[in-house]
Amino acid sequence: MVKILKLNKISPVINNVFDAKYEVSDDCVDPDGIILRSFNMADYETGASLAAIGRAGAGVNNIPIEKMAEKGIVVFNTPGANANAVKELVLCGMLIASRDIIGGNKWVNTLTSDVAKATEKGKAAFGGHEIFGKTLGVIGLGAIGVKVANAAVALGMKVVGYDPYLSEKSKSLLDKAVEITDLDGIYANSDIITLHVPLLDSTKGMINAEAIAAMKDGVIILNMSRGSLVNVADLKAALGGKIAKYVVDFPDENVINTDNIIVLPHLGASTEEAEDNCAEMAAKELKDYLENGEIVNSVNYPALAKARTGKVRTCVCFLSSAEAAIKDLSDDKAVAMRGNYGYAIIDGDAAADLSGIDGILKVRVL
Ligand code: MLT
Repeated sequence: MVKILKLNKISPVINNVFDAKYEVSDDCVDPDGIILRSFNMADYETGASLAAIGRAGAGVNNIPIEKMAEKGIVVFNTPGANANAVKELVLCGMLIASRDIIGGNKWVNTLTSDVAKATEKGKAAFGGHEIFGKTLGVIGLGAIGVKVANAAVALGMKVVGYDPYLSEKSKSLLDKAVEITDLDGIYANSDIITLHVPLLDSTKGMINAEAIAAMKDGVIILNMSRGSLVNVADLKAALGGKIAKYVVDFPDENVINTDNIIVLPHLGASTEEAEDNCAEMAAKELKDYLENGEIVNSVNYPALAKARTGKVRTCVCFLSSAEAAIKDLSDDKAVAMRGNYGYAIIDGDAAADLSGIDGILKVRVL
């Protein structure tokens, strides 16, 4: 029996992926695989049996991916699986920040008599701006950023985008009307800025006093990516002046109940469709790795696939110090590297002989 531990509530669609060979539960011990959403694994003790973790979502800041790599545990995520859900919330965020829909709704519910007349008399306090013709700056043009940029073009916005790692795939999917620029170009030109980058040491606090000073007066900032991308103290100092509104999908004590901050309860990927898509994709990635040793969409090991050519398949996670020795093996193999870590699939009539090779982190024989 292959054991899969769920660390969060996961869509039951995974039961269509994991067949009778699998035991999937909230409390199994010594799991072979873990599937989770936002459970914080920082202090989680992994056992020797654990081979892989599937994050049903895009962000992996709740998983210590380097620590897992050191243990030969492959971490997967599901890029793109919830992109449409997040895109739709970004569009909603632009609209509720541009027009005082939330304030107007609250106010209209306070009216007690002659409501229609009182509405027409008081509604002027809740006007706003259209997004048509405005410039949207998209920081990060991955699966979500591209969808947001293209949707904004379709709504009649001018769109400028920035991504230092723009992939060929993103380039091919991006509407030709999107102008690629740098961060200065985003800040100088955008009426609305939306963030679609992962939380990394290099992106933490990227929206700070210096960045804000370079923005247009009255800019709206949307953050459906991770709260810590924004230095909230710097943001608050500019609210109501340089920054008209901040829409954030990551509540904490510093952002709730603040004028001109619209806080949402991390709803970006919380649609039935996205939850199903993410769960199914994470489960398929785990299954493929556990059964065939193939890696797709890992965030700490390289992608690798190989058609089976022998009776026995040996899958090896290793440190780069073992690269030369692994590549020297005469067996039928595929090898790939990612930074300090490597992965090999070795096919043969028996398990590969790895004796004497230093830097092996995990070996599975399938
Ligand atoms: C993501 O990272 O995919 C989204 O923030 C949703 C989630 O955390 O599940």
